[in-house]
Amino acid sequence: MKRIGVLTSGGDAPGMNAAIRAVVRTGLSKGWEVMGIRNGYSGLINNNVVSMGARDVGSIIQQGGTVLGSSRCPEFKTVEGRRKALRTLEKHSIEALVIIGGNGSQSGAYALSQMGFPVVGIASTIDNDLCGSEITIGVDTALDVALQAIDQLKVTASSHHRAFIVEVMGRDCGYLALMTGITGGAEYIIIPEFETDAEDVANAIRTAYKLGKAHALIVVAEGAKYNAHGLNQYFSEHHEELGFDLRITTLGYVQRGGSPGAFDRLLATRLGAAATEYIAQGKFGVLAGLNKGQITPTPLAEVVATKKPLDLSLLRLSEVLNI
Ligand code: ADP
Ligand code: F6P
Repeated sequence: MKRIGVLTSGGDAPGMNAAIRAVVRTGLSKGWEVMGIRNGYSGLINNNVVSMGARDVGSIIQQGGTVLGSSRCPEFKTVEGRRKALRTLEKHSIEALVIIGGNGSQSGAYALSQMGFPVVGIASTIDNDLCGSEITIGVDTALDVALQAIDQLKVTASSHHRAFIVEVMGRDCGYLALMTGITGGAEYIIIPEFETDAEDVANAIRTAYKLGKAHALIVVAEGAKYNAHGLNQYFSEHHEELGFDLRITTLGYVQRGGSPGAFDRLLATRLGAAATEYIAQGKFGVLAGLNKGQITPTPLAEVVATKKPLDLSLLRLSEVLNI
């Protein structure tokens, strides 16, 4: 092996830079050259490739986002798009590629490996919806950002005796909402994995009021049927007697932009180092992830074919703690 490539793809996640740094520096320590591909799969298609030295990844471990840039790239989903990508890889004599990203990005990695190119994936998404890693890069920091906002919203909610519905990110997965709700002390949590009616939300708010609470906090995942938009519409059409005055807030992208905490820096560093080690061992078509405290490789075929389950017992626990 003489030259490898690294790219970040899909939604950015705090810790991606720490992973890039680890890939570049462990790659260099093996005597390889490391090429960075800018803007995810678009850079692969459009030949946007730069050489990465040890100094190019200096002082990025603490930065959120990704210095390489990222993108959503529909063209890469086509065979023709991936052929263009392969031509770029050949042009730069890149012999193996590290792909840092979430669910979609690892589907892309798998598709590329199916065309014969050696790839290794690194599990990175704030959604934590990727099989092959119990926790993915960025989740811990995104949770902290959401919690800081929730704690502050609770202060103003208590002062005004209000109910707050707070929407957090999570396209198809309620992990972030569930964990934010549990750790933020929510009265009710709405996730795509568990069907909820808008009337259930109204009941939760009324119950909190009757229990004499100073406020009510509802956390909802953006991917849920009744997300902030749906609930806003419901409550503007149904003027229910809730007890509390109601406000709705969408946290959105602030959750993605935090600077990575110690957990994400360490996870990303370990995954980056493991990915280059897998390349050195000729272990391709796998995802580097954290499982039972160890960094382990999981075949991408398995990763893309499996839906990560959510521990719904935590939803019941939050109900128990709601009294
Ligand atoms: P994330 O990796 O954060 O889940 P996306 O789902 O948007 O983000 O996927 C990122 C990119 O991965 C897509 O824009 C596309 O270029 C590529 N991708 C997603 N699914 C596939 C697929 N089935 N085949 C090939 N490429 C894919
Ligand atoms: O990648 C995770 C995520 O933040 C989802 O939670 C969210 O639905 C999506 O990305 C937003 O994507 P975009 O950056 O393309 O608007």
